Amino acid sequence: MSIVNFIEKFRKEKRTLFTTPSHGQGDFVAPETAKMIGRRFFSCDYSEIEGFDNLARPIGMLRNAQDTAARIYDAKFTFFLTNGSTSGIVAAMLAVLHRSDKVLIARNCHRSVYNGLVLSGAVPIWLLPQYNQEWDIYESINLDYLEEMFSKNKDVKAFIMTNPTYEGAMSDISRISAICKKYNALLIVDEAHGALWNFHKSLGTTALLQGADIVVHSLHKTAGALNPSALLHIGKESDVNPKDIQQALNLITTTSPSYPLLLNIDSTIEYLNSQQGQQELSETVKNINRLRRSLREIPNLEVYSNNNDVTKILIKVANMSGFELSDILFEKYGIEDELANEKSVLLLTGMGTTKVKLKKLEKALIELCSENIRIIPENRQEKIFFPVIPRVRYTPALVWGRNFKEIDIKYSIARVSMELIMDYPPGIPILLPGEVIRKEHIEFLSDRKKTIKVLV
Ligand SMILES: Cc1ncc(COP(=O)(O)O)c(C=O)c1O
Repeated sequence: MSIVNFIEKFRKEKRTLFTTPSHGQGDFVAPETAKMIGRRFFSCDYSEIEGFDNLARPIGMLRNAQDTAARIYDAKFTFFLTNGSTSGIVAAMLAVLHRSDKVLIARNCHRSVYNGLVLSGAVPIWLLPQYNQEWDIYESINLDYLEEMFSKNKDVKAFIMTNPTYEGAMSDISRISAICKKYNALLIVDEAHGALWNFHKSLGTTALLQGADIVVHSLHKTAGALNPSALLHIGKESDVNPKDIQQALNLITTTSPSYPLLLNIDSTIEYLNSQQGQQELSETVKNINRLRRSLREIPNLEVYSNNNDVTKILIKVANMSGFELSDILFEKYGIEDELANEKSVLLLTGMGTTKVKLKKLEKALIELCSENIRIIPENRQEKIFFPVIPRVRYTPALVWGRNFKEIDIKYSIARVSMELIMDYPPGIPILLPGEVIRKEHIEFLSDRKKTIKVLV
């Protein structure tokens, strides 16, 4: 029985609850909140009362819902997450990595990987994905380079990578998985942006079908669920023990998971897997593809199309930086993008992307390009970050909580950073706590940072 049906059935019992949450399923709602979202949202917000299940050790309706999801995704085991992919990534790391274990990580990772390093005490070995200067983005993992990194570090326990990247670029997961197996390492794929792949084959192939051990999906990014709902899956052939994952999740997540989120996770998966859901997704993908084709006809505009997830519309306009394009879209047309970099702008689409929205974007871009707006750069020079992987002097866990002082960035060369500088763009950590600051970092950061925290 689905979570929605379970709650509906339970409501008919008309039980009198002296339990948390104390809003009594909407008997109390702060007036402003009630005005904004009404009481219905509260009406399905329960705790682990008699007859309900417990997400920390599910044996009833939540276990059934997770098992159904695992069947749909062809996973060995699926966990529902109400703390986002962030919690899934941290839990995956805590479950399989122990203090001083070596872990190979593609540097374009989400900051939750850093959190996992602090908590697990694992030792990171960084690897850079291929960089595309024309679009200022990171693309796939070079397989020879991966093989070389493994051959130099044979005791690596796991490889963590992001696929697709924020911008939708994809790597060859089957071959990466084969390399990981050859070196006895687990493959953890942050597939936060690929939650729709299971339901539309033209978008991409989930790492679950390509030999990954652990895969994490954010359902709120493209799949149309509430923030911050997500899934953690164990691959069918993997030896990762579900009990270890559950234990790690219980260490870092709330003991009061949100039932509105849980039911939304359950019903989103069920709907996307239904005939109607698949039709709706196909229609959405068709509309996005139609827009992509018509954008290609616009002079001076380019759309990134290089083996990428088509829901990520990455564009650039001639003679304009991504930041300038982003500003015009926002200020003149009221269109807000997901992110911008030196060269391009990313527009994220998904289940809620209507034809009307796409039309508005198309019209704005036609007008913008035909007016041939030429921004006079305000004395700003193109600033591309050519990443150098800094030397890790101390692991993130070792420097956590250590004393630091803030110094003029000009004098920080060779000092140990105590800052996590990982903003978008460039979507790659520039420096992590414990890493040695180099001249290149200072040059790149100097016009946006005057001081930096360093280890004393
Ligand atoms: C690649 C990637 N992984 C993980 C996350 C974290 O996802 P969540 O917001 O579901 O915690 C994000 C969020 O932006 C992301 O872009």
